[in-house]
Amino acid sequence: MTISKRLRAISDFISDNSFILDVGCDHALLDVYCALNKKNVKAIASDIKEGPLAVAKENVKKYDVSSKVTVLLGDGLSTYQTGVDTVVISGLGSSTIVSILNKGSKVLPNVDKLIISSNNDYCFLRKSICDLGFCISDEIMVYDNDKFYPVILFKKGHKVYDYYELKYGPVLLDKMDKDFIGYLNNEKSKLFDIYRMLRLKHMRKRLKVKKDIKFIEKKLR
Ligand SMILES: C[S@@+](CC[C@H](N)C(=O)[O-])C[C@H]1O[C@@H](n2cnc3c(N)ncnc32)[C@H](O)[C@@H]1O
Repeated sequence: MTISKRLRAISDFISDNSFILDVGCDHALLDVYCALNKKNVKAIASDIKEGPLAVAKENVKKYDVSSKVTVLLGDGLSTYQTGVDTVVISGLGSSTIVSILNKGSKVLPNVDKLIISSNNDYCFLRKSICDLGFCISDEIMVYDNDKFYPVILFKKGHKVYDYYELKYGPVLLDKMDKDFIGYLNNEKSKLFDIYRMLRLKHMRKRLKVKKDIKFIEKKLR
């Protein structure tokens, strides 16, 4: 089976012998792919809606992985089971992801890895998850279907990050991979547009945008 570049990047952070809880699994293609391609991986594919779960169940049956992938209806981390060591939450907005993690924070001490992919508000996302006792272990920026998606691997720990590390990602800023360079160029042109639109009366905001542009330009040099 083939999966999207984004889901493939998420699967790259999943180790053999993991027990995954995929929150908001939708079609469960990630879980089916891991069951087929990783050694000794088990997954709970869970979603808050019946509709996606019907598709997930069909995929589990189609690829004959029902001994490895369990499909469950439930809100956020309520479907957690003892032994789960890896939680995946992808394709949801940052505020929903953070609210799911806060609501289910009781189970987080048992979880080794969080694999998170959102499409907005990355500074808030990284900061909020680090406040829950995790640090950023690895990251990749994926350009898929004309959009950029960061995939972030959090592990237990404590590290202090500055504003730009939280905004753009400490590992991404360090590695400067091709898709991340594309992302920074895209961000730079969006910031230039904002800068041009801001009038002189918004001087403080203009200065902040200019500082962000300078940061990106320095990284791209
Ligand atoms: C856009 S899909 C993402 C599917 C898949 N994770 C991916 O990355 O391609 C988001 C899914 O999350 C589910 N969802 C939204 N809020 C949820 C919650 N609180 N708990 C569990 N699932 C949720 C939705 O029903 C939907 O199927």
